[in-house]
Amino acid sequence: MVEETKKITEMILDAAQKAREETSNEPEPELTRPLQWPIQATIGPGLEGAIACESKIGYVNGSKGWLIYRGYDIFDLCAYSTFEEVSYLLLMGKLPTAAELEEFKLKLINYRFLNQTLRMLMSSPVESMNTMSALRLGTLLTRRLITLLDLEDGSPTPADYINSDEDSIPMETAPIGELHAIYEFKHRSDDMDDTEACFHLIAGLSTITAAISRIRQGRMPLEPNPKLSHAANLLYMITGREPTAVEERVMDIALILHADHGMNASTFAAMVVASTLSDIYFSVGAGIAALNGPLHGGANEQVVRTLIEIGDERNVKSWVEKSLASKGKIMGFGHRVYKTYDPRARVLGVLAKHLAETNESIKPLFNTAQALEKEVGTQIGTKKKIFPNVDFFSGIVYSCLGIAPEMFTPIFAVSRVSGWTARVLEYLENNRIFRPRAMYTGEFNKGYIPLDQR
Ligand code: CMC
Repeated sequence: MVEETKKITEMILDAAQKAREETSNEPEPELTRPLQWPIQATIGPGLEGAIACESKIGYVNGSKGWLIYRGYDIFDLCAYSTFEEVSYLLLMGKLPTAAELEEFKLKLINYRFLNQTLRMLMSSPVESMNTMSALRLGTLLTRRLITLLDLEDGSPTPADYINSDEDSIPMETAPIGELHAIYEFKHRSDDMDDTEACFHLIAGLSTITAAISRIRQGRMPLEPNPKLSHAANLLYMITGREPTAVEERVMDIALILHADHGMNASTFAAMVVASTLSDIYFSVGAGIAALNGPLHGGANEQVVRTLIEIGDERNVKSWVEKSLASKGKIMGFGHRVYKTYDPRARVLGVLAKHLAETNESIKPLFNTAQALEKEVGTQIGTKKKIFPNVDFFSGIVYSCLGIAPEMFTPIFAVSRVSGWTARVLEYLENNRIFRPRAMYTGEFNKGYIPLDQR
């Protein structure tokens, strides 16, 4: 078994080498620097190009295909690290020592037990709910367990509200940001601090996701197994059997790959909510809501549905032509930032190939995916710089691990919660409420027409 997981490490290092070779002609990026606010930026629709804050958490470079967490290359993290270590790294800013990692793991083990939350969640029709709305509901229910924000002493003071209200800060056009955090999730029980709530969420989302999956299969949720790693326990709680070493390793890598990705839509949504001095549970709820959409995390489920719809690799060419003629977006392709191959798709691609080779029912799906990648590349790839993104191969990988398509996006959230919480905590150190503007292009000076004359 060790040999088999060693092979996976080698595959990742080979993918890293290929990435370096293929992007070697791209110019070296201008490295980043601290900003002097206010700054000038060229902004496109959808806030493209806008810089909303400074961050030390992660870096994405679209032409080199770099993804870096706290200074570490994603390929190295996939090859050598674990999701627990990576979550600690994102939140705490450094890799843990052995003792710190043990302590962190112990916390996650304890926080995975969400019996009260699951009891409350099961009073809803989870079996027929959209899985992301069930996850969001479950996440908000966990809030009751350790945040006391509904109580008087847990609420931010009026001064906090006023300080963060954009209308009370006379700098709408010249933002300088707050110098200090004005709210740090500190108002809970004595032994709870801000990061503790983040650990609670990182552990808890896996339990809720697995419970939703079980309930949809008509089964009872399983208790977490404290002996297992985060990845292995997630698979165990979903499938009811302890995963093999290879399955555990693949799940772990998938979780590492999805943990953080700059100011993506769901991270931004979580940060916007936090910036109003709402709490981290509401923030993560907003992240889940934003991740649900097919242009973001929902694409992974749609990719597998597309591959099933195409049916056979021989149908790929005509399917792509038809889809492009109708101006449809092909799920799992394209990215706002990457104008080269997404490094996450490189890793997931080799993992999908490795798993599909020995999985007769998934093999045809993988073959169709390969044909689709080639055809999209030929028809628009080079011209528009459209390549497979993280969502293209993840569904195939998850299918090989025994996970149902409707659970793919919740699994994305199980991982991305590390990035959401890390970035929210970091942003709150210099919080300023998010408040961009829209250019009004409507009419003025219209006379009011009474209802009976319209
Ligand atoms: N299929 C076909 N054409 C595409 C695609 C695609 N998937 N993506 C982009 N294009 C074309 C687009 O039509 C446009 O062409 P033109 O310049 O001729 O009008 C050009 O490429 C630029 O696209 P855009 O829509 O302006 O790019 P964007 O940065 O606004 O959107 C995106 C990025 C990811 C939303 C988009 O590529 C897309 O909708 N992809 C499909 C959904 C998907 O796979 N989402 C997962 C994203 S990665 C992980 C995550 O965030 O969860």
